[in-house]
Amino acid sequence: MNQSEFIDPFNKARIEKGFGEMDDQNDPVVMLLRHKDVRKAAHDWKTFSSNAVPGRIVVPSEVNIRDTRQIPFEVDPPMHGDYRKILAPWFKRPLEDNYQKRLEKIIREALKETFIKPSTEVISEFALPIQSRALTLLLNVPYSEAKKWILWGTHVFRSEGEALDKDKASILYDYIDEEIDKAIANPSNDLYSMLLATEINGEKLTKEEIKGIIILTFAGGRDTVINAITNTIAYFAEHPSSLAMLKENPEIINNAVEELVRYFSPLTHMGREVTKNTTACEHAIKADTRVSLCWAAANRDENVFEDANTVKLDRKLNPHVGFGFSHHNCLGATHARQILRTLLKVLIAENVFIKIENSEENIEELGDFKRKVGFNKLHVQFRK
Ligand code: HEM
Repeated sequence: MNQSEFIDPFNKARIEKGFGEMDDQNDPVVMLLRHKDVRKAAHDWKTFSSNAVPGRIVVPSEVNIRDTRQIPFEVDPPMHGDYRKILAPWFKRPLEDNYQKRLEKIIREALKETFIKPSTEVISEFALPIQSRALTLLLNVPYSEAKKWILWGTHVFRSEGEALDKDKASILYDYIDEEIDKAIANPSNDLYSMLLATEINGEKLTKEEIKGIIILTFAGGRDTVINAITNTIAYFAEHPSSLAMLKENPEIINNAVEELVRYFSPLTHMGREVTKNTTACEHAIKADTRVSLCWAAANRDENVFEDANTVKLDRKLNPHVGFGFSHHNCLGATHARQILRTLLKVLIAENVFIKIENSEENIEELGDFKRKVGFNKLHVQFRK
């Protein structure tokens, strides 16, 4: 009964020093671990900038595999705000009735497929299909596109090793180039066409800008959503009474989703480039080096969260930073929340019983820290 227990590896360092250190491809990173420091740095974009060379604020760094700037993620205010203004209404569409109905159908069907199998590998046979099919709704493209994305597998953007793999990344980049060209030739009502028709300060977005937005939409919402779904399934397999409790108290489903995002923190951390000599936790940080905002460590800060290492699905005050904080807070959060809420509703409605058969943990190596972020494999039985 411990597959869904995610131990906090940052506890000692967070209490004793407030920061950790790791090397990433010979470019060191100082990890900020306390909730207040993470929020302060996320807000202070003038000192902790996202506007580095493309790929540098990501850990592990992607500078060797891409030149395209991901937008709005690798842009600082005020330009960042211009991009967010055009993207915000589109990324709120998951709140629409029709979107929610279609999402529920996707999740119900994925679950139905599991009932007829003796065993389901959750990542490849449940989470990835749901994530991919749901993404067709967010991009407003034909449902059939999801087939291609499912065939890419889980590691299209990520290699097993330290550095990222350029060949794998180019599958996605070439695909996006082609899709933008198709939308130029045949405009429709998908995200590509909306962006092609958009102007900022009287100027059309360039193809490179559009590519940067779409890459991020694919990459930002892939592993994160897959881990969130998979970890949630592991949790309810080991805590069936919590599912029963949610059935009795459906009004706390939204709290439950926030708590699962806090506890599992599907995105461990994200970097920033330091623009001037500064300090954090009395530690000197030099200009041009990198820090990371460790959402996962901040989300277990006992100064903010009572019983931080316990999942309390009805937690009321929950200022977690699982979706980031301040300017760059997650643009896909409405979509991700809607997926998780719907997943819980469907699990409850179908009275699902989940049994874990075996699993293989996915451990991130972050210098001295080893963090479980999810699973490489999770075999379960889904039964009604
Ligand atoms: C930003 C987490 C799902 C798109 C972020 C940030 C975090 C995060 C922590 C802040 C990054 C920073 O400050 O540098 C998550 C988690 C998710 C999730 C935990 C799932 C449970 C998604 C989805 C999409 C998405 C589904 C889109 C399909 C983005 C974008 C940004 C972002 C575009 C950048 C926003 C900006 O720079 O203004 N996400 N994300 N995310 N996320 Fe997500």
